[in-house]
Amino acid sequence: MDDTLTALALRESEELHRITLMNMSDAVFITNDEGSFTFICPNVDVIFGFGPDEVRSMKRISHLLGRDLVDHAQLAVHGEIRNIEHEVATKRGTRRALLVHIKQVAIKGGTTLYVCRDVTERKESERALRRNEERLTLALEAASMGMWDLHVPSGEMSWSPETHRILGDPAGDKTPSFDSFLELVHAADRARVSQAMIDAMDQGGSYETEFRVVGYDDVERWVMGKGKAVRNGKPLRMLGVVVDFTDRHRLEDERRELSGRLIHAHEQERIRIARELHDDVAQRLSLLAVELSSLARHADKVPSDIHERIVQLSAHAATLGSDLHRMSHELHPATLEQLGLETAIRAFCRELSNAHGIAIDVNVRAVAHPLPQDVALCVYRVTQEALRNAVRHSGASTAIVTLAATADEIVLNVTDSGAGFDVRAPRDRASLGLRSMLERVWLVNGQLAIHSKKGEGTRIEARVPLQNAG
Ligand SMILES: Nc1ncnc2c1ncn2[C@@H]1O[C@H](COP(=O)(O)OP(=O)(O)O)[C@@H](O)[C@H]1O
Ligand SMILES: [Mg+2]
Repeated sequence: MDDTLTALALRESEELHRITLMNMSDAVFITNDEGSFTFICPNVDVIFGFGPDEVRSMKRISHLLGRDLVDHAQLAVHGEIRNIEHEVATKRGTRRALLVHIKQVAIKGGTTLYVCRDVTERKESERALRRNEERLTLALEAASMGMWDLHVPSGEMSWSPETHRILGDPAGDKTPSFDSFLELVHAADRARVSQAMIDAMDQGGSYETEFRVVGYDDVERWVMGKGKAVRNGKPLRMLGVVVDFTDRHRLEDERRELSGRLIHAHEQERIRIARELHDDVAQRLSLLAVELSSLARHADKVPSDIHERIVQLSAHAATLGSDLHRMSHELHPATLEQLGLETAIRAFCRELSNAHGIAIDVNVRAVAHPLPQDVALCVYRVTQEALRNAVRHSGASTAIVTLAATADEIVLNVTDSGAGFDVRAPRDRASLGLRSMLERVWLVNGQLAIHSKKGEGTRIEARVPLQNAG
C-alpha cells in the first residue's frame, strides 16, 4: 500500500517536472562525464529546432552545441560555470545566441547539468541600441553637436566626445561637472546661462541660448546651448546639446561688417549728392529765379503775353528750388547733426504731411540731444522708411510717431491704422525698405519688430541701445 503511494507521489512529482520543463523556454540537458546525454528536456526543439529523438541520436552534447563548452578544471573547483556566451546553428541553419549555465549534479545517471537560454533577441536589441547610439553620435558630431547629461542629485555629468572638443579638451581628459562647465562659460555670459539652466531645472522646462565658452585650450568659441530638465518632484536630470556656432558667428560678423560698410558708403554718397544739390544746383536755380523775376519787373518793354510767361517761369523756378531743397534735405538732413533727432524727425514729418496730406502725430519723451550719431541716423532712417511705407501702402490718413528714451535705449514706434500686411508672406526681392530697416537696426545692436495684420494697421518698433553693447 505504502509502496503504491510512494510510486504515485513519485509519478506526480515527475509529471510536475515534465510540465515545468515543457513550459520553460530554457533547454535543459544532463550528461555524464564523457558528455553523453543522460537526459534531454522535451522542449529542446524550441531553441534548437531538433526534437528530443534527433538530439539523442547525436549522442554527445558537443555535437549539438558545436563544441565542448566545459572547462573541467573550473567546474571541479567551483561546481558550476555561469553565463557562457555561445552561438549555435539550429536545425534550420539559423544562428541563435545562447547563455549557458553548467553545474555539477548527480541525477538521472548523469554528472553535468546544462541550462541553455536563448538570448538572441536580447542581443539583437542591444546591438540595435548600440547601432542607434553610434548613428546618433555620428550625426551629432557631423552637426558639430555635443551632448551632455547631468544627474542632478549626484551632480554626476557626462560629456560626449564632441562636447569635450567644444570645451577645448579634444583628448577627453577633463572630468565633466556642472561647475567646470559653468567656469568655462565666458564671464560676460555666465550669469545668464546659469540662470537659464537653473530656471529650466526648477520648472522642469527647457532653455535655448547662445553664449561664448573659453575652452581648456584658451580658445573662445560661440556655442548654442539647448537643454531640457526632467523632474520627479525635484530636479532629477538634465540633458542638453551644445552646437559650435563659431564659424557661423564669424560669417555673421563678416556679413555685418560688409553691410555696415555698404550702408556707410551709401550714406556718404547721399551726403555728397545732397551737398551738390544744395550748394550747386539749388544755388544756380535760385540765381535763375532771381534773374527771371528781375526780367519780369521790366514789364513795359515786352509784350504782355511774354511777360505773363516770364512770371510763370519765375514761379516755376522757385517751386523747383524748394523741391530741390526738400530732396537734398531728405537725402541727408543737415538738421540731424545740427539740431538733433527730434527736430529732424519733426521737420521730415511736416514735409511729408504737406506733400501727401497725411496727418502725423509726433510724440517725443526724454530724448536728449546729442545722441550717438549712428544711433540718431539709424532712428531717423527707420522713421523715414516706415512713414514712407505708411503713405505708399497703408492708405491711412493719420500716422503716429513716438520716440522715447531711457538711460539705456531709445525706442521708436511708427504706427498707422491702415491696410496692414502679412508680415510672414515672402516679400518681393526688389523691396528693400523693410530689409534695410532691419539691417540698420541690427548694425547698431538694436532690435526691430514689425507688427502688422491685414486690415489692422502696422506698427514698426525699433529699440536701439545707447551704449553699443559689442
Ligand atoms: N505701413 C504699411 N502698410 C501696409 N503695407 C505695408 C506697410 N509697410 C510695408 N508694407 C508692405 O510690405 C511690402 C514691403 O515693403 P518695403 O520693403 O518697404 O518695400 P516697398 O515699399 O519698396 O514695396 C510693401 O510692398 C507693402 O506691401
Ligand atoms: Mg518701402
